[in-house]
Amino acid sequence: MRNYIKADEWNIIEEGFDPHLNKISESIFSLGNGRMGQRANFEETYTGETLPGNYVAGVYYPDKTRVGWWKNGYPEYFAKVLNAANWIGIEVKLDDEILDLATAEVSDFKRVLNMHGGYLERTFTAKLKRGKTLKVKSTRFCSIADDEVGAIRYSITPLNFDGKLTLMTFIDGDVKNQDSNYDEKFWYMVADEISGAGAEAYIKLRTKKTEFEVCTGSNIELYKNAEKLNLNPEAVRKEKFVGQTFSLDIKANEEITLIKIAANLSSENYPKESLLKETKSVIAKASAKGFDTLLKEQAEAWAIKWEESDIIIEGDVSAQQAIRFNIFQLFQTYTGKDDRLNIGPKGFTGEKYGGSTYWDTEAYCVPFYLATARQEVSKNLLVYRHKQLGKAIENAAKLGFKDGAALYPMVTMNGEECHNEWEITFEEIHRNGAIAFAIFNYIRYTGDESYLSDFGLEVLIGIARFWKQRVNWSNDKQQYVMLGVTGPNEYENNVNNNWYTNILATWCMKYATEAAEIVKAQQPEKYNTLLKALSFNQKEFADWADIIEKMYYPQDEKLGIFLQQDGYLDKEQTLVKDLPASERPINQKWSWDRILRSCFIKQADVLQGLYFFEEDYDLDTLKRNFDFYEPRTVHESSLSPCVHSILAAKLNDEARAYEFYLRTARLDLDDYNNDTEDGLHITSMAGTWMSVVEGFAGMRVRDGKLQFNPFLPGKWKSFSFTIGFRGATLKINITESGINIKNNAAVDLEIGIRNQFYKLTGNTEIEVNNTALV
Ligand code: BGC
Repeated sequence: MRNYIKADEWNIIEEGFDPHLNKISESIFSLGNGRMGQRANFEETYTGETLPGNYVAGVYYPDKTRVGWWKNGYPEYFAKVLNAANWIGIEVKLDDEILDLATAEVSDFKRVLNMHGGYLERTFTAKLKRGKTLKVKSTRFCSIADDEVGAIRYSITPLNFDGKLTLMTFIDGDVKNQDSNYDEKFWYMVADEISGAGAEAYIKLRTKKTEFEVCTGSNIELYKNAEKLNLNPEAVRKEKFVGQTFSLDIKANEEITLIKIAANLSSENYPKESLLKETKSVIAKASAKGFDTLLKEQAEAWAIKWEESDIIIEGDVSAQQAIRFNIFQLFQTYTGKDDRLNIGPKGFTGEKYGGSTYWDTEAYCVPFYLATARQEVSKNLLVYRHKQLGKAIENAAKLGFKDGAALYPMVTMNGEECHNEWEITFEEIHRNGAIAFAIFNYIRYTGDESYLSDFGLEVLIGIARFWKQRVNWSNDKQQYVMLGVTGPNEYENNVNNNWYTNILATWCMKYATEAAEIVKAQQPEKYNTLLKALSFNQKEFADWADIIEKMYYPQDEKLGIFLQQDGYLDKEQTLVKDLPASERPINQKWSWDRILRSCFIKQADVLQGLYFFEEDYDLDTLKRNFDFYEPRTVHESSLSPCVHSILAAKLNDEARAYEFYLRTARLDLDDYNNDTEDGLHITSMAGTWMSVVEGFAGMRVRDGKLQFNPFLPGKWKSFSFTIGFRGATLKINITESGINIKNNAAVDLEIGIRNQFYKLTGNTEIEVNNTALV
């Protein structure tokens, strides 16, 4: 836990340079635009501790699994979005001394991530070994308006000397993943080029095995104060490296500014043979606009995003900063323009989790994008899985399932399973249910039932077929059971009858049946064609119904709780509060065997089910389960506290709802788990948003209507948030005295506030004060 980020409503600020914090800051100050992203590495040379990171969405490498006990069904590889060419490089040399903050004396260091404008700014003064002192200011962004473009403005002012300044700007493709199973480099060189009178540099690289090609280019301009200088650069070519170097005589207090406009284009979007040409054209267009215009476009694009998604918290600057940081990072990671892309748990901010897709997307991120972005954005997340249905059927077939049963992977890049922690995640088949639940959630929120006939039903049938084959009839119990699974609580492996998985499985079969009825009624022809294409036998509905009716769900009558799995109560029942602090986190302090035998729970499991299917359970049931499971939960996944926060809010336990919210809201800003240097917890950031909107504001969609059940956290004066809902843009403001909802579009709605319904016609507002709410 640290506390070095200065509180500010719109900016993330670091003052003073502490090399020990550098890798943490590189994560926190990361930039991205959904298509590419990078850690906040320095432009100039840095020989201190750093984790270089530049990523291009969708460009990955299948790194061969390293395991001595490979068994049938295990993945052959672990996919990773590759560390790609570093385009920010600018080497700065004063006479013959290189500027390097690891060896210079650094003062006035300040890093600011401006979330309103979408850019990173860094200023510092550095005194080199021989006493030369210079001031530097750099401004950098990945354009969200044109997501193939990035830009840097790098200004140097010598403070106490006249002399020779030599700059080398470069693109370095000779990069390595820190995470590489066989310590190999993943890129081949294809071509490079220096053109445009030496101002433009291009490098085209190809990934091994997957053969993606990425062309990275840059164009530079140089200014002395406001005067543009002629460049006469010399080309520098090394292994997978292309650069330009030039020298000039400078005098104290003159400002030299290098503008570097860069582009990254990949063969995912262009034919390989025209990549270089297309990159040149993107560079030419962006350079013609110039840095200032690009920065202005960036601010305009971010202004639109903020208008649609901002959360304003009054009375708590640190909470305000945190929620904006979470929203900002989510939009830097995923913009929903491309249905082949998804959301890695660390986004573009580190290598952990390989940039692959997890159930996090459906369970945590979909609700955020549903409410804060155009409908197409969350739809594309769903379509991504539809596109991978064939692979999910293949995955299931590899494990012995048949007849169109689909098992989506726990970790994937292209639809194939590629997790590398098979002993934990292999049996986490619950992800299949989260994918079905996201379809339900999308339709519940948008009302877009056409999604079912276009894409959804096919996926739901594949998933339901899987569950049907995955359960078995227990003669002993005279019920269906599900053996050998891992629930969301990864601190249990290979358990029988995980309540959450069992309930999810039957829910999927119910929902697939309902979805089929909807499609049949609305699009009979499409229905018949689809079912024929899937070789669907009407008897399958009856098989599902039989399982739905006769499924076994473990529970304990005495305690009145659902059992996480068979035998859970045989475990020694100790509580987290009795665990010595020195033994936590248990995933670092205990042996795996001890963790598995203990009753401690990594993250919401039974409670995840009560969150998804809350309509089916009364508050007493929720309370009994919450009171039993939470004290046994160590919350060692960042996905855990948000679900607990929402449930605590539902139980009217406002203090605990707020306490759980705090655990994730500033998770990365305060390096709460000592792991921010690996990258940010992007998917749990969506959970933080959920804690505010579904927790504190109690927002739900029931029967096509929005409902709120709000409370105001004690520390806050008010909070408000903007959401889109079925064509309307709503601004919801919650204060001590009540709730105000402004409908900023010409769409009439009916809104529930604590179970009372109000008409909210287009472009009007309603205000309900707390006295009316009792
Ligand atoms: C969690 C999983 C999650 C994964 C990626 C793990 O620690 O237990 O539920 O999918 O991280 O975020």
